[in-house]
Amino acid sequence: MPNETLTITDNRTGKSYEMPISYGTIHATDLRKIKVSDDDFGMMTYDPAFMNTASCKSTVTYIDGDKGILRYRGYPIEQLAEKSTYVEVTYLLLFGELPTKTQLEEWEKKITMHTYIHENLKKLMEGFRYDAHPMGMFISTVAALSTFYPEANNIADPVVRQKQILRLIGKVPTIAAFSYRHNKGMPYVYPNNDHSFIKNFLNMMYSIGTHRYEVPPIFEKALNILFILHADHEQNCSTSAMRSVGSSHVDPFSATAAAAAALYGPLHGGANEAVLRMLDHIGDIKHVPAFIEKVKNGEGKLMGFGHRVYKNYDPRAKVIKKLADDVFKETGVDPKLEIALELERIALSDEYFIKRKLYPNVDFYSGLIYKAMGFPMEFFPVLFAIPRTSGWITHWQEMVLDEEQKIARPRQIYLGYDTRDYVGIEKRK
Ligand code: ACO
Repeated sequence: MPNETLTITDNRTGKSYEMPISYGTIHATDLRKIKVSDDDFGMMTYDPAFMNTASCKSTVTYIDGDKGILRYRGYPIEQLAEKSTYVEVTYLLLFGELPTKTQLEEWEKKITMHTYIHENLKKLMEGFRYDAHPMGMFISTVAALSTFYPEANNIADPVVRQKQILRLIGKVPTIAAFSYRHNKGMPYVYPNNDHSFIKNFLNMMYSIGTHRYEVPPIFEKALNILFILHADHEQNCSTSAMRSVGSSHVDPFSATAAAAAALYGPLHGGANEAVLRMLDHIGDIKHVPAFIEKVKNGEGKLMGFGHRVYKNYDPRAKVIKKLADDVFKETGVDPKLEIALELERIALSDEYFIKRKLYPNVDFYSGLIYKAMGFPMEFFPVLFAIPRTSGWITHWQEMVLDEEQKIARPRQIYLGYDTRDYVGIEKRK
């Protein structure tokens, strides 16, 4: 058995330090004993964007970016996408095990009991400008939930926590659908508790008047799969925002609003929209080679390609590509799909992309499917936020129960002025 320690020699002082290695990491605070003098603060690491820092221990999601592996609680994403439902996956994420039949029925029923929102919350949503961006409405309305359930700040109580978890999972589709209807100037449709989670959401989105909206089965299947694929992705930008904000012990609604705000950014939840804009810009399959040449010359990026973690085909993209075929059988093929397929074909055989390990990511095909299902582009981040809420809240709960966690508070390298005396305004130049 090799010695599970790391020895560091500080060449400034010639001193050596031995620190334990656990799970392939050293504890960052162990570095603090490396000092040049007694009043030295001690060694820190500099890691902008947390490129190489584990901020927590987690048992939720496993990713191997080189091999293209994604698992929730040990279950491969491909198997979950094929065999499970989104509601079952929320249970798996939160409780760590797949539910029995009775557990699933109870869980589904409990979520269904929390789909309605307070009428005043609906009025609050009505107060947004007629063309308000649905994601801005979503973030603000989720934050406002904390004012309706002030007991939610009692995060140490497991019963209270459970209630807010159910409220969040149950209410986000309603808030999402209302934000869409508002943006379209259409009356809000209340939840129908006879429907499944996905069917209810699509009904709130698309049903009009007394006309009975028949949810196409392939839409229900596709959305179930897309929600499963988007439910969690370990310590991504929005999940780490959830953990970071939640570490102050604020209520989970406020923390979820912060996570959703992080998701709003184009580098995170907005990439599938960028893919559609890129396909529009290319316009025709015959322009693909010229576009690829431009990308290789550094004039823009191939959107929907590349990933910070995956240096292989994103396993979610594989599932989505297959799903796109099924959806397009129902809706007719989007001409942009042809361009996307040609882009992928050329990129995957081109030295530039092979060398940099650039493969299609989850966003390369998801936008095309969402568009085929009638969702407008500005709604894409909201569609991401609905399922990711279950991932956020799972990580929030794990963080709350983790005795090693404290309020998140990084250090900095201060490069500003040393002390200087205040100068009166009359003497300033
Ligand atoms: N098209 C062309 N070249 C690319 C692309 C791309 N999509 N992505 C990376 N590269 C190139 C970089 O220019 C760089 O080349 P160089 O070594 O010659 O300088 C090399 O590949 C490494 O790229 P980095 O930017 O260092 O990789 P990083 O891990 O920081 O970026 C990111 C990952 C942001 C996802 C990047 O690949 C990208 O911008 N992709 C397009 C946007 C996108 O699809 N985002 C969605 C990600 S999935 C999600 O968030 C749900």
